[in-house]
Amino acid sequence: MMKRVDQKTAVITGAANGIGKAAALLLAEQGAKVAVTDLNDEDGQCVVAEIEAAGGVAKFWHLDTSDEDNVQKVFSDVAREFGSIDILVNNAGIAGVNKPTHEISKKEWETLMSINVTGVFLCTKHVIPYMQKSSTGSIINLSSIYGLVGAADLPPYHASKGAVRLMSKNDALIYAKDNIRVNSVHPGFIWTPLVEALAKDSPEGPEAFKAELDSRHPIGHVGAPDDIAYGVLYLASDESKFVTGAELVIDGGYTAQ
Ligand code: NAI
Repeated sequence: MMKRVDQKTAVITGAANGIGKAAALLLAEQGAKVAVTDLNDEDGQCVVAEIEAAGGVAKFWHLDTSDEDNVQKVFSDVAREFGSIDILVNNAGIAGVNKPTHEISKKEWETLMSINVTGVFLCTKHVIPYMQKSSTGSIINLSSIYGLVGAADLPPYHASKGAVRLMSKNDALIYAKDNIRVNSVHPGFIWTPLVEALAKDSPEGPEAFKAELDSRHPIGHVGAPDDIAYGVLYLASDESKFVTGAELVIDGGYTAQ
């Protein structure tokens, strides 16, 4: 049977953990050759080993998405190794500081923006020529429910995810003529190392924090990395060939209220 992303090659940023890891495993299971990229070499190599053990094809590249030289070099290496780049999942992101806007330093603001916004820009910039060459491509940008509505916390994160939402729509328009689709995904809270770290740092303690997070989702609990990976798979596959500039909300009803 034909798998859902057979014959395709994918680059996933921040693929060593959490949502990126789940997307890497699922795309590989569904036939894609996967470039697992991350700052964290050890966890990234583990993801590759897991894919290979399941019979899939993957390779690890060390990639800091905020470093343009690094991005350019890795995309050129991936294209040489795999022959093309059909799918880019701009997943790498950080939560940043959680304090009111007037207490945030310019440095703290810029550090988050360099990864959550500039990183998405740089990876998009350097993947486009490869996608134009083969007249096909799907770029999937991880925004958030925090790119749709406010929550009175994490100010730089909200700003960054709002930017990613509109960068996706605008790039969808610029590259539609090249048959390159660009969409954003908007997860509710997903239990990953990122959210575990927020829980650990919370004044009320991790358990109360998790219970409170669960209660914010009408479906009764936070999501799992696979819940998002299945959305990424859909947008990566040709099943979504008429979908571009769309925002795929996967949030247990968080933003329906
Ligand atoms: P995570 O923290 O569990 O994993 C993120 C991965 O990105 C890590 O392996 C980390 O090493 C890597 N990374 C960080 N900075 C990097 C950089 N400059 N270059 C390359 N890799 C880098 O995060 P999680 O939760 O899996 O989040 C993935 C994406 O989904 C992020 O963009 C996040 O903002 C977004 N998201 C997550 C939600 C959640 O509740 N977990 C909700 C909505 C969106």
